Amino acid sequence: MKETRFGKKFWESKWKNGETGWDIGEVSPPLKLYIDQLKNYKQHILIPGCGQCYEAAYLHQKGFTNVHTLDLSTIALEKFKEANPNFPKEYVHNEDFFDHKGEYDLILEQTFFCALEPAQRKDYVHKMYSLLKPGGKLVGLLFDDPLSKDRPPFGGSKTEYLNYFSHKLKVDLMETAHNSILPRRGRELFFICTKPVD
Ligand SMILES: C[S@@+](CC[C@H](N)C(=O)[O-])C[C@H]1O[C@@H](n2cnc3c(N)ncnc32)[C@H](O)[C@@H]1O
Repeated sequence: MKETRFGKKFWESKWKNGETGWDIGEVSPPLKLYIDQLKNYKQHILIPGCGQCYEAAYLHQKGFTNVHTLDLSTIALEKFKEANPNFPKEYVHNEDFFDHKGEYDLILEQTFFCALEPAQRKDYVHKMYSLLKPGGKLVGLLFDDPLSKDRPPFGGSKTEYLNYFSHKLKVDLMETAHNSILPRRGRELFFICTKPVD
């Protein structure tokens, strides 16, 4: 794993000190709506940079049997495991996203992209591409806001994101979310990308 300025030490200290302002304490409403229309309960789902991962807990409660959570932070994942004792431990991955190996039908993005340095954005899209099965989807939310320039959360715009994502994936949708939580209203893009089948 390549150590960046915002690697394990940085995130572990955020979790240790309770500096987790990004944590909304519930499934993000746009993702909940998306999850609620999924029909295949056996599909393989990954949630990278998951933190306490309310989305994974929700999917698990609904009966999805192949949900994987991943985070650099041991503290975040311990919190997740404590809150979700019945979630399969072997599907909780304490590792760097860029080192992860697997094949997924669906990957959910929720304030993970903005946690990475802008210089890693191209690698993020390449890694997502390599983790998705052909026809698999990357779905989630991105901040439509410049945010911070020198530390997470790093922001951006639709034009910039389209540029990165369309390099490897088919962008099916990228629009302002209509059901964001109040503090993020008008500042979040909901997107769906598909890995082409060839
Ligand atoms: C801003 S938080 C978002 C957490 C969660 N998605 C949420 O919305 O509450 C970013 C998370 O990504 C994790 N993270 C940062 N870089 C990572 C990497 N390279 N691989 C895996 N996890 C990473 C951090 O530990 C942190 O828990």
